[in-house]
Amino acid sequence: MTTINQPIGIFDSGVGGLTILKSLLQQAPEEAYIYLADSGYAPYGDRDKEYIIHRAGLVTDFLLNRGAKLIVIACNTATGAAITTLRNRYDVPFVGVEPAVKPAALRSKTGHIGVLATRQTFQGEHFQRTAGLHAREIEVHVQEGQGLVEWIESGMEDEDWIRQQLSGYLVPLLEQNIDQLVLGCTHYPWLISYMKQLLPENIEIHDPAPAVARQVLRVLQSCHLYRSPGVSVAPQFYTTGQAGFLNRFVKEHLNLNAQSGTISLS
Ligand code: DGL
Repeated sequence: MTTINQPIGIFDSGVGGLTILKSLLQQAPEEAYIYLADSGYAPYGDRDKEYIIHRAGLVTDFLLNRGAKLIVIACNTATGAAITTLRNRYDVPFVGVEPAVKPAALRSKTGHIGVLATRQTFQGEHFQRTAGLHAREIEVHVQEGQGLVEWIESGMEDEDWIRQQLSGYLVPLLEQNIDQLVLGCTHYPWLISYMKQLLPENIEIHDPAPAVARQVLRVLQSCHLYRSPGVSVAPQFYTTGQAGFLNRFVKEHLNLNAQSGTISLS
């Protein structure tokens, strides 16, 4: 039987899902978390759907073996490709991430919104459906963020490169008169400071993390799995990539001392 003290499992192709964990730690610090960065197999964004379903299944098995009571797919790409399969396969609640087209469409005054995401996210039926449903009166301009996940996963070093790359993606969206920019990949919020250097002040940037954390709380409550406030437990971190990289990233961006375990999942 599942009990409230079991951890929440979270995964992403790498350190992108830490943007979601950060919001979860703010909104539900009493929960226990296990985070798995599948960095050894990142990026997912250019892979086909079957590959992502395969990785998501291995990662979910790992998290369930460590007692996860709920799984957060903290990755737009994996949500689009795999959430339906995972929900059919496992008897545990899943919360996924989708590009925040609806709030952006509601807030747009120009009638044009930009979405920056991976190729696989744009191809997924989730995106097609969400964009179709919520953006009927609005023009949705899509842009693939090629190379951005790789830059983050390799240590965020060459800042001239990232400015140039982002400029190549954002300027064409600005030319379409967008006033809302939807970040459709959980890695991209780590680039917001660079984006702000390129975007006029009136452009609103949509990071889905706070809304995803609220949804996790709603699901926990409706499944009677919410851990009442009490003693908080330090999150555990695992990676299929380099533990040192994940530890440094967690220290710098979440201000936590992680001692990640390196695992092989193949
Ligand atoms: N953070 C993942 C997402 O939200 C990154 C995708 C990738 O690995 O390419 O889509």
